[in-house]
Amino acid sequence: METSFTKKIQNFSLETLRGGLRGERVILRIDTNTSLGDDGKVDRGEDWRILKMIPTIEFLQEQGARTIILAHQGRDPKETLKPIYEFLSQQVPLSFAQWGEVVDVLKSVADGESILLENVRSFSEEKKDDASYLNVLINWADFYVNEAFSVSHREHASVHAIARLLPSYFGSQFVREVEELSRFLTPLNDGERVIILGGAKFGTKLPLIEKILEHKLADAILLGGALANVFLKEKGINIGSSYYDDSVDVTHVMNDPRIVLPVDFRGKNGSEGKIEELGDDAILDIGPETEKHFGEYIRKSREVLWNGPMGKYEDGYTHASVAVANSVVESDTYAVSGGGDTSTVILEQNLEDAFQFISTAGGAMLDFLVEGTLPGIEAVLKRG
Ligand code: 3PG
Repeated sequence: METSFTKKIQNFSLETLRGGLRGERVILRIDTNTSLGDDGKVDRGEDWRILKMIPTIEFLQEQGARTIILAHQGRDPKETLKPIYEFLSQQVPLSFAQWGEVVDVLKSVADGESILLENVRSFSEEKKDDASYLNVLINWADFYVNEAFSVSHREHASVHAIARLLPSYFGSQFVREVEELSRFLTPLNDGERVIILGGAKFGTKLPLIEKILEHKLADAILLGGALANVFLKEKGINIGSSYYDDSVDVTHVMNDPRIVLPVDFRGKNGSEGKIEELGDDAILDIGPETEKHFGEYIRKSREVLWNGPMGKYEDGYTHASVAVANSVVESDTYAVSGGGDTSTVILEQNLEDAFQFISTAGGAMLDFLVEGTLPGIEAVLKRG
């Protein structure tokens, strides 16, 4: 959706340089961060975010740019990008280099060639937003491209400080992320908009709920996952041994009629029932009646935004999340989703065609929806 903000982002798109990139020296930041399987490799289900980075890498190659690629992996500085490289280099021509080799690499990189450097988080400066460790690269480069929307909520050197030091642009996936998520920043006047939130991370979800309610950004907010437990408990409803976060105060929003809570549950050892029948059991997924109810909201909506699974997805409580995805399939709604687990449900079920857009971001998507921008965006827009 086009707004004055999305137009501004488009003006900084890498696409605007088409035809003028031969021999140009580019630092490209991508986000391929993923949890690897037990085999230490990128398997199906772990590859979706990585695959979204390929068009921009290919674009720079076709255009003849000399590209050094930066990325991070995990939060432990010792983690390596090697498995990501092994996977990515099967999809697109790519070399890999250690930081100790960088001076030689910069001398030898040819037109149309791309080289991925080891994990930027192996430098403590990265998280401190101190770009001094990137000086050799910055002095070499003609410009910087941010194709890492999903980590652009972090004020980290390779997405933030660096963009202030070079002429900077956004990759095509980044531009698309902003365009698709921006539609949810203004009210929808001629139809129903439903926002579905689940999962167990509360950080930015409460500010998002507050914003949606205050700015009338949705007709209904369907809550599942451990997020819903906080609301149920605050309303004085027994949640048994369900997980919840007592540091979150939802009293000021919990009675808003637009917030829709589960009425039944799936619990331990295959149990099912109304929430009031829960006893000591735990809500591990929303129940069949809630699934049906949420499905009705989705089928009559014109737009859906979904972030966070409806149940304890990592332990196999996937039923309701799959049902939500299937309700989207049965509807004519314009659907956008985000968050790692949510995207995994959709992709595992091969339901991605029912979604107009699946964001590569989790935390960055929520921050963008709350703030309307991100530190990594502002750093690129500094010229404007
Ligand atoms: C993500 O996986 O959401 C991004 O790569 C950000 O990773 P981080 O939460 O470790 O900063």
